Amino acid sequence: MIQSVSPVKKLKGSITPPPDKSISQRAAIFALLHDGISEIKNYSPAQDPQSTLACVEDLGAVVTINEDKVTVKGKGRDGLAEPKDALDCGNSGTAMRLLSGVLTGSGVSAKMIGDASLCSRTMTRIIKPLEQMGAHILARNGGYAPLYVNRLDPLKPMDYELPIASAQLKSCILLAGLFGEEPTRVIETVPSRDHTERLLGLEVVEEVGKKIISASLKDEIPNQSYTIPGDFSAAAFWLVAGCIVPDSEIRLEGTGLNPTRNALLHLLHEMGADITIENERMEGAEPVGDIIVKSSELRAINIPQQMIPNCIDELPILAVAMTFASGISVISGAEELRHKETDRIMAIAEMLGATGVNFTEKEDGLEIQGNPEFSFGSATFKSFDDHRIAMASAILALKGSSESQILDADCAAVSYPGFWKDLTSLASC
Ligand code: S3P
Repeated sequence: MIQSVSPVKKLKGSITPPPDKSISQRAAIFALLHDGISEIKNYSPAQDPQSTLACVEDLGAVVTINEDKVTVKGKGRDGLAEPKDALDCGNSGTAMRLLSGVLTGSGVSAKMIGDASLCSRTMTRIIKPLEQMGAHILARNGGYAPLYVNRLDPLKPMDYELPIASAQLKSCILLAGLFGEEPTRVIETVPSRDHTERLLGLEVVEEVGKKIISASLKDEIPNQSYTIPGDFSAAAFWLVAGCIVPDSEIRLEGTGLNPTRNALLHLLHEMGADITIENERMEGAEPVGDIIVKSSELRAINIPQQMIPNCIDELPILAVAMTFASGISVISGAEELRHKETDRIMAIAEMLGATGVNFTEKEDGLEIQGNPEFSFGSATFKSFDDHRIAMASAILALKGSSESQILDADCAAVSYPGFWKDLTSLASC
């Protein structure tokens, strides 16, 4: 689908961001491992969480969907079924990486497949440590899906220091560790999103400069009955749009505020954004609140490298904010972006290049020459079939002087099926 986006004079109104993708996927997987019935409210209708739910069913859970409430009758750790067909993870790296951990731990053999984007993303980062834990994994070209995951040898719990700040890798190892008599301990030196340890209630020990998270058979898997918060990574598009479009005021109800996810809030504040938070509360194990953003004059920023994992999914839209901030902004230490749904450094460069913004692409990031007065006529943006690139391009397109086109825009549904409708609603208030 080609989506046309016209410039807007203002954005006004209140929206509830879609249910969090990362938390929905974890809720489904943890509910499978729980020996009982979980009622997950506000489960995400987006493609990635729906792929995960289908895999969880293939592994034996009984899933019933009633509007936005998903009921999962779990199998417990010892009751998982061998899937009849391949587990289809669609576009979701989270599904493939977390479920590989579950397969390794449980000893259930399965083939895992995904779409062209997922099959082009490296799985070496999970294959090596899972093999250390006793798995035998056959991967295309040594490191890519389809994967065949087997475990014939006994599970070997281990101490594992994360070589990259990745919540998917951390969660994969902890999920395998949940099946071990002895604890598996994951050592994290750069914080990444902590939904897994929160929602499973795992033991976390904080030491100077590191966090040690343990998982074993002794950990009870909690019932996953809670309401999924709004997705901060989806709200991020409106946070930036609200700042850069004049005369705007947007309220984002019930948005997740997990501190390991919301670095964008701190960065935008530092850039001069007018953002306030109301009604801070807890939704299960996760903090949420209502965020209000108003048009703001932004200044350039250099993102501290430690913060990159805490805004990794927001970097495409942050690059759009940087385009309208006075001065040179720098994203560095972000080579992980090259391993996302597409090579996002290349994709951001193409997006900015389509409008004539001044920038330099680096191996591990970008330098962007921002200007609050920056303007362009119209542009044709390629999404590279990456949801976050399609949506970031749409927000950038709001600042053109005539209608722009976003190619392959339907991929927004991977995380945010209502994105185009919400855009129309905010633009027409
Ligand atoms: C995710 C973790 C992040 C993020 C992805 C979802 C998760 O990846 O980019 O969209 O649900 O754990 P890494 O932390 O593995 O880089």
